Amino acid sequence: MKEDRLKIALIGCGGIAQEHWKGIQRIATRVDVTVVVDTNLESLNGMAAATNAEPFSEIGLALERGDFDAVDIMLPHDLHESAALDCFNAHKHVLLEKPMAHDLPSAERILEASKKVDTVFMIAEQAQYWPDVLKARELMNDGAIGEVISANGNFYDPVSVDSQAPPPWRYSLASSGGGVTIDGGAHWIRPLRMMMGEIDEVIGVAGHHIPRMEGESWSRMLLKFESGTVGTLICQNVAHVAAPADMFRITGTMGELQITSGRQGQLILYNNENPRGRVIMNAVEGKINSYGEEIKDFCEVVLDGKVMAATPEFSLGEMRTALALYKSIKSGSWEKVW
Ligand SMILES: NC(=O)c1ccc[n+]([C@@H]2O[C@H](COP(=O)([O-])OP(=O)(O)OC[C@H]3O[C@@H](n4cnc5c(N)ncnc54)[C@H](O)[C@@H]3O)[C@@H](O)[C@H]2O)c1
Repeated sequence: MKEDRLKIALIGCGGIAQEHWKGIQRIATRVDVTVVVDTNLESLNGMAAATNAEPFSEIGLALERGDFDAVDIMLPHDLHESAALDCFNAHKHVLLEKPMAHDLPSAERILEASKKVDTVFMIAEQAQYWPDVLKARELMNDGAIGEVISANGNFYDPVSVDSQAPPPWRYSLASSGGGVTIDGGAHWIRPLRMMMGEIDEVIGVAGHHIPRMEGESWSRMLLKFESGTVGTLICQNVAHVAAPADMFRITGTMGELQITSGRQGQLILYNNENPRGRVIMNAVEGKINSYGEEIKDFCEVVLDGKVMAATPEFSLGEMRTALALYKSIKSGSWEKVW
């Protein structure tokens, strides 16, 4: 008989796990969280209490004794490979938070291992489900702004600079593999790829202004898309009050699309018919729900054989873009993404 529900283990019960759990309750309602895993007992017990799932302080023990068919891995980047490989070996379906790993060889080993098993492997990237980005692409296809020329993205990510607390793992290059670009920047790189097509090459600069953070805390990148169009992306950690900026702005020969940031987050179309701008949609709710949508997608791939919205090979693109930026900072030249 075809299964109708998916038993999942949440591996890593930190920050993003809270969003995944909300998404499961609101959107991915065919998922049952039966197991939770974390080495930090406070996080583990908190998540066990919220989900009513069986807690384990080690992945190995959970794989040996827990009752689940799939895992949602939400760990520091340098722990992705060992966790994913253990789960593949135990024949579990694997949803793995972005980026696939902290460096390319590790990501390639994960991909190779995923191909040797017949379970599902998907990278969690919620921007794939942002309704304003999907709608913008549709409007661009319909010629709403004429021939597309360029895209700008602005990613501002608040960080805490508590000098008394130990530095978070994402401040360590060995754990994270980079800074703001490879981490949260991924959620801006994916929409740029969805709207503008594949990125061919990048050039950029980056720097450090957050104490104790080894990776870049800001970057500025120029992108050339395979289509011949161009883009810019600002990735910026902020420990101060920041001014509002567009999330995205797409320029064409006949108009512009704007995706505004913050609580009023809207997709707005400017063209001859709409010189003052027409609000196409408010997308805040859709963005909040996108974590649930990605888990629902994963669940339907496993249970119903649905085709996933973005393959793991495609999902390597954000990480490869960040790595190309890092190369370009050293070489001072344009660097290929693929
Ligand atoms: N999609 C998004 O918007 C988004 C946002 C934040 C983080 N992330 C991604 O999610 C992943 C986790 O990030 P986070 O911000 O939740 O980190 P976090 O530090 O808040 O949580 C990680 C958790 O893993 C636990 N842990 C560490 N080592 C472990 C081990 N060996 N076994 C079991 N548990 C272990 C930690 O105790 C912690 O609770 C990363 O890949 C990150 O890039 C995605």
